[in-house]
Amino acid sequence: MRLLREILTDTVEEAAGRAATACRITLDELLGDGITRAEIEEVLGELGEIPDLWDFAMGTWEDDSATSRFGAEGGEEQYVAGLKALTSKPVVGVGRFTSPGAMVRMVHQGILDFIGAARPSIADPYLPQKIEEGRLEDIRECIGCNICVTGDFTMSPIRCTQNPSMGAEWRRGWHPEVYRGRHADGKILVVGAGPAGLDAEAAVLVTARLLEDSPLTDLRARHHEWPDLRLRSARAIGDALAPGTIAAAVWEGRRFAEELENPTDDADATPYRREVTQLTGQQE
Ligand SMILES: Cc1cc2nc3c(=O)[nH]c(=O)nc-3n(C[C@H](O)[C@H](O)[C@H](O)COP(=O)(O)O)c2cc1C
Ligand code: SF4
Repeated sequence: MRLLREILTDTVEEAAGRAATACRITLDELLGDGITRAEIEEVLGELGEIPDLWDFAMGTWEDDSATSRFGAEGGEEQYVAGLKALTSKPVVGVGRFTSPGAMVRMVHQGILDFIGAARPSIADPYLPQKIEEGRLEDIRECIGCNICVTGDFTMSPIRCTQNPSMGAEWRRGWHPEVYRGRHADGKILVVGAGPAGLDAEAAVLVTARLLEDSPLTDLRARHHEWPDLRLRSARAIGDALAPGTIAAAVWEGRRFAEELENPTDDADATPYRREVTQLTGQQE
């Protein structure tokens, strides 16, 4: 308690009104001999007014990011209910919230002030906007499979089974859900595409560990026949060129489709914004 008080007090002092101070804390460690909900009530009684926001999580990561097989939406409600009454500061909680109705109920019933959404935002970063605009049927719902979590344990880039372009929205400078409509009547055959190719008029699905690019090389060798076949171009894109993340492959397919009428052969012209971390000290 003393340590937490000092950390919070120092942080609030350092932030000096320039930023809010949030305290993320477990609702109950669920360890039997660990921190219990009763102790958290005590913490709130003593320190409840120090930070600007209380952010509640639960147990270990397995408990907190429970898979849908073992945890329902809003599964932390029984632990978080009642804590808001112990502080005048706003509280945020989580629980794989994807249904606007469940979110609204938590707020209306005075259980939470804010809805936290980690996995639901990974599955659909536009979730708040879609709720605000009433586009509920457009919500790309997190199914609680926890493939996103596995990246942390396999030291691999985070992936989402419901949102192949996740994490690349800002880097690529595109909006994955807003794309140009079709402008040409030409037909396209997609060979070897995954789900990204299924919107095409025809797709031949190919999976193999060994390089098999003969459809493309053979076609290129018959270049002289293209005019008779009314074939205008044959290109390898995405993972057919080099393995990459799913988001990179999706982006490549999208770029190819959008540039169909004005193709660029400069495959290196891939926009990729990098975050530049600045250690600036005091900010004016
Ligand atoms: C990929 C991933 C990474 C996470 N990393 C952290 C973290 O670094 N610190 C933390 O306190 N919680 C972390 N969490 C837990 C979330 O903040 C959240 O408490 C939990 O996923 C339950 O919320 P949700 O049901 O909205 O996903 C992570 C969750 C996911 C899915
Ligand atoms: S991978 Fe996507 S759908 Fe699965 S739990 Fe994570 S965010 Fe939800």
